[in-house]
Amino acid sequence: MATHTSPLKNVLVTGGAGYIGSHVVYVLQKTRQYKVISIDNNHNSNPAALDRVSQLSKSELPADATEIDIQSTEIDSYKCDLTQPDQVRAVFEAYGRGGIWGVVHIAAYKAVGESSEIPLTYYANNVAASVSLLQIMAEYDCHRIVYSSSATVYGTPPIIPISETTRLHAYSPYGRTKIMVENIIEDLCHSDRKWRAVSLRYFNPAGAHPSGLIGEDPRGRPGNLLPLLAHMAVGRVKDATLKVFANDYPTPDGTCVRDYLHVLDLASGHLLALNALGPDSNVFDPEATDFYKAYNLGKGKGMSVLQIVEAMRKATGFDYKYEIVGRRRGDVPDLTADPSLAQKELGFTAPQDLETMCRDLWHWQTKNPFGYGEY
Ligand SMILES: NC(=O)c1ccc[n+]([C@@H]2O[C@H](COP(=O)([O-])OP(=O)(O)OC[C@H]3O[C@@H](n4cnc5c(N)ncnc54)[C@H](O)[C@@H]3O)[C@@H](O)[C@H]2O)c1
Repeated sequence: MATHTSPLKNVLVTGGAGYIGSHVVYVLQKTRQYKVISIDNNHNSNPAALDRVSQLSKSELPADATEIDIQSTEIDSYKCDLTQPDQVRAVFEAYGRGGIWGVVHIAAYKAVGESSEIPLTYYANNVAASVSLLQIMAEYDCHRIVYSSSATVYGTPPIIPISETTRLHAYSPYGRTKIMVENIIEDLCHSDRKWRAVSLRYFNPAGAHPSGLIGEDPRGRPGNLLPLLAHMAVGRVKDATLKVFANDYPTPDGTCVRDYLHVLDLASGHLLALNALGPDSNVFDPEATDFYKAYNLGKGKGMSVLQIVEAMRKATGFDYKYEIVGRRRGDVPDLTADPSLAQKELGFTAPQDLETMCRDLWHWQTKNPFGYGEY
């Protein structure tokens, strides 16, 4: 553990072993400024992911790495359930009051359809556990948080590309958990200027670290398009006909359009957001009534379902069969971000293109056809 005398700042990442979490941990480690503490209950992740991150970070250390550099590649990993305050408190207690500089709160349940079937489970895990985390942070003098939100908070946006000032209106319990937690954090910042917080509204993260060591490892049949296409190509999904939910939307080819960005570009947005919570940041106006901001993290470029299928065909060589079926309830035609606020205020960019995302995804999938394996 990095002590108070270490120059490394302790950052707690919730959901650190998950898809986005593992890439965020990697990006934080690369700076050699943060010491990562991960808490994850492995509901949807394999602890091996964090071993791989550490291995990757160590392999990138220069020959003249210092003791501090080496420390920064080690992860204090706790199997801990956010819905159990005693478990979370025990982690904070291990670092003492003020010992954790900030929190990147990524852990959540994320399946839109499932959230309508078991809404209370979603509200308990995503909302109640977040309130409890914030309470424990306050107890331990930790008042900086970066929160994982989602483009789903925009429902059917009236204007594309979507700016942060768009009214929030989600269609699913999952989406509503994201709006609720954003609101709770904003209220907290408003009540007490000790708090500094950034909500990051992710568009569609895709791809994997180019080493193929870490990537997305969904349990069961993937719910998202790109991992599903990767599983089809690698032979994990047997009924290999893709259902495309309608081609009569008001988009160029009639299929739904989403804004895909490379998961490492998304992860770099967390680093920028975390840095923005520090004393030297000029993201927050000192005269503002609160220190809270929400940013879109996307490329600002929409891709249709059929464009994605074609890009994956090129990356994998797999001859995808698809059939057009009816519209799926809750789908919206176009979710393309206006990322200009994050560009301007955080310096965020998402330079990696769709070809790179598909290539990296496929590299990860072929190196790890069954993900991280049994757990
Ligand atoms: N993947 C996407 O397309 C996407 C898009 C928008 C927003 N998001 C948000 O990003 C975050 C991460 O998504 P992901 O794709 O990495 O998902 P993921 O399931 O891979 O990661 C979430 C992690 O949180 C952990 N977790 C869940 N509940 C927990 C609890 N009670 N205690 C401790 N750990 C718990 C899981 O085990 C998992 O490791 C989520 O908040 C999700 O809502 C994801």
